[in-house]
Amino acid sequence: MTPDPRGTGSHPGIDTSVPHTARMYDYLLGGKDNFAVDRAAVRKVLEAMPDMPQSIRLSRLFLRRAVRYAIRRGVTQFLDIGTGIPTAGNVHEVAHELAPGARVAYVDHDPIVLTHARALLSREQQDRVTIVAADLREPEKILAAPEIRDVLDFERPVALMLVSVLHFLRDDEDPYGVVKRLCDGLAPGSMLMLTHASLDPDPETGLAASAGWANATSTMNMRTHEEILRFFDGLELVEPGLTATWNPDGEPTEVLERAIRNIWGYGGVAVKAPAGTHPDH
Ligand SMILES: C[S@@+](CC[C@H](N)C(=O)[O-])C[C@H]1O[C@@H](n2cnc3c(N)ncnc32)[C@H](O)[C@@H]1O
Repeated sequence: MTPDPRGTGSHPGIDTSVPHTARMYDYLLGGKDNFAVDRAAVRKVLEAMPDMPQSIRLSRLFLRRAVRYAIRRGVTQFLDIGTGIPTAGNVHEVAHELAPGARVAYVDHDPIVLTHARALLSREQQDRVTIVAADLREPEKILAAPEIRDVLDFERPVALMLVSVLHFLRDDEDPYGVVKRLCDGLAPGSMLMLTHASLDPDPETGLAASAGWANATSTMNMRTHEEILRFFDGLELVEPGLTATWNPDGEPTEVLERAIRNIWGYGGVAVKAPAGTHPDH
C-alpha cells in the first residue's frame, strides 16, 4: 500500500513516487487525479513544448469523432486500449449517445485508471461496458480475455482504438507487430483508429519534451508521419488519411483547430478488408 499524499487513504499498487503516464496526461488535460511527481514531470514537458496541451485536446477530439464515424458506418463495438483516467466524453458516453446498445471494452495497465473507471461505470452499463487490466504489449492475452469476450463479439467488426498510447511503446517493444497481432484477431470490417505524438513540427523540441517522460512508467517515443503511417499497413486507410485535424464527416470545426499552430501528432482510421480483397494480400 502506498500512502496517498492527498490524505484520502491509500491505493493498493499505485506508486506515487514515479510519474505515471496516465496521471501526467490527466494533469495535461486539467484533471485532478495526479500527484506532485506527475506535475513535476509535466512541467518539464511544458518547458520544452508549451503548446502540447492543445495537441492533446485535438487527440481527444479525434477520439470522439472516430467513435461517431464508426457508429455511422455500423460498427458498434469498441476495444479501447490505453484508456486513461476517465475524463468527459469517454468512448462509451460518446457511443451511447448515438447507439445505446454499443459495447465497449476498456484496457489499461495502470491500476489508478482501473480504480477510477470502475467507479464510473454504473451497474446497468456492466453488460455493455467493461474495464480490464492488461498490457498492450501482450495482444493475445487481450484478445483472449474472458471479461472482454463477454462484452465484445469478435465474430463481428470491432473498432480498435489506440488513442495516444502507441508512442509509449519503444521500437524494441515491436509496436508494429503488436498492432498487426491485434488486427489479425479482428473480423473483416473492423477498424483501427489511432492517434500518435509526432516530432514533425520541430524534432529538437520533440526530443526535449520527450525527456519529460524519462523517469515515468513509460517513455515517450514520438514518431514521424511516415513512421506512424506504417501502423496501417495491410489495412485500407480512410479519407482524409493520417492528418493533424481529422474530420471525415465534416463535423463543425472547433476554435482549437483553427487557432493551433504546431500540431504534435496525427490521427487516422483504417478498415480491415475481407480476406483476399485488399491489394496487399
Ligand atoms: C496518454 S493516455 C491516453 C488516454 C486516452 N486513450 C486518451 O486518448 O485520452 C495513455 C494511457 O495508456 C496507458 N498505457 C501506456 N502503456 C500501456 C500499455 N503498455 N498497456 C496498456 N496501457 C498502457 C497509460 O496507463 C495511460 O492510461
